[in-house]
Amino acid sequence: MVVTHLVSAVWAMLPAYVPNNVAVLAGGGRPIDGGRTWGGRRLLGDGKTWRGTAVGTLAGVLLAIALNAVNRRASDAIGVSLPEFPLRAGLALALGSMLGDIGASFLKRRTGRERGASLPGLDQLDFAAGALALARLVAPRWFVRTFTPPVLAVVIVLTPVLHVATNAIAYALGLKDEPW
Ligand code: CTP
Ligand code: MG
Repeated sequence: MVVTHLVSAVWAMLPAYVPNNVAVLAGGGRPIDGGRTWGGRRLLGDGKTWRGTAVGTLAGVLLAIALNAVNRRASDAIGVSLPEFPLRAGLALALGSMLGDIGASFLKRRTGRERGASLPGLDQLDFAAGALALARLVAPRWFVRTFTPPVLAVVIVLTPVLHVATNAIAYALGLKDEPW
């Protein structure tokens, strides 16, 4: 059932989606690269901070724990067996999404794009790719059980849509400097 896959995909990816948005709210302070440059350009740039990364990751882990707490009730209510998050899966999704986003900034700086520049495609999928890759690495059995081919397909289609929508909202609210 398409709806089942849709709901499972969103549920499974929430601990990966939320950290990026929390990082926007929590960002500031020391940049991870400490101002270092490579080839005349910043390694990552001022948009990747220790505080944003740490608070974002923590928020994703706490969300995974909260989702586990309401799993039974939510599953019963909608008639879908929603995925549960072992702690390391929640941590991998949250930290992986932050690392994917950081990796994209690294690539953007190497290709001469300044902080805030867009790189269509990469911007919308970097964090999902990082989250899935790290989850697959640290919780492989949970990963194949949770991210079945149809669920993965939904994630790939839905992630850019959700990302564009939430960033447009954050921009409209004045929380973000660019709408991407
Ligand atoms: N942020 C942060 N730490 C992160 C990710 C994001 O502090 N690991 C905060 C920063 O304040 C950043 C904002 O969230 O400016 C928006 O995130 P993003 O769009 O990813 O960064 P940009 O400033 O656009 O920089 P980049 O070009 O490197 O993506
Ligand atoms: Mg950006």
